[in-house]
Amino acid sequence: MPPPLLEAHDLTATFAGPDGGPPVSVLRGVSMRVEPGEMVSIVGPSGSGKSTLLYCLSGLHAATSGTVRLLGEDLSTLRRGQLAALRRGRVGFVFQSYNLIPSLSARENVALPARLARHRISVEDVDRALAEVGLADRGGHKPSALSGGQQQRVAIARVLAARPQVVFADEPTGALDTASGTQVLDLLRQTAAGDRSVVLVTHDVVSAARADRVVVLRDGVVSRELTRPTADQVFAEISAGQVV
Ligand SMILES: Nc1ncnc2c1ncn2[C@@H]1O[C@H](COP(=O)(O)OP(=O)(O)O)[C@@H](O)[C@H]1O
Ligand SMILES: [Mg+2]
Repeated sequence: MPPPLLEAHDLTATFAGPDGGPPVSVLRGVSMRVEPGEMVSIVGPSGSGKSTLLYCLSGLHAATSGTVRLLGEDLSTLRRGQLAALRRGRVGFVFQSYNLIPSLSARENVALPARLARHRISVEDVDRALAEVGLADRGGHKPSALSGGQQQRVAIARVLAARPQVVFADEPTGALDTASGTQVLDLLRQTAAGDRSVVLVTHDVVSAARADRVVVLRDGVVSRELTRPTADQVFAEISAGQVV
């Protein structure tokens, strides 16, 4: 069996409290793993630490304690430049806000990270990435000429063009209508195959249930892990013990 692409052990994240108050423990000992080809969802109530966990897993934020092994590397031992290189080449991140550059066409937006990293990216690579997200005929359009769903698909094409092995997505459908959200989810679902994995943060139980595994986060700890659950099972797990 190949080693996991991602393995976190006993992660904690503590932030300084507001106005000099006591520190806030957001993650309180989270362990999880992601195998090659898997799509894993992280769900939980708002404020349960989902985004913080995703940032720690992807190296965007340094955990307070615990270990993250991403693509075989212990993130805490990497120097800044090594971490940046790992993230640039083999890790992708999709945010809720698409973060496209308004003055650039879809094609130019997709090519931008490679340009900034001084990597070669061919017109064919860019067009292939756009075709993969169903936007082969929109390469010349600026973001303002695209719907929200199309903009998010350009943002995903931008990530996929770098051929990352792990794609992290934080509420990628949060700003989209249901139909566009389904398209984006379909795309992430297809991406998780072979040696490529997707880690999705969402509070939408239907989206979460598209994953192979669902990690339920509550108050900074993993309260349950579900394998191929239905949306109803995810809902029951999130709302368990909550006064609604
Ligand atoms: N940089 C930070 N400084 C202080 N507190 C933070 C910081 N980032 C997140 N938090 C706090 O951590 C908690 C969890 O946040 P977050 O991970 O964004 O949760 P979720 O994504 O599940 O809604 C919140 O109470 C939030 O205010
Ligand atoms: Mg969040």
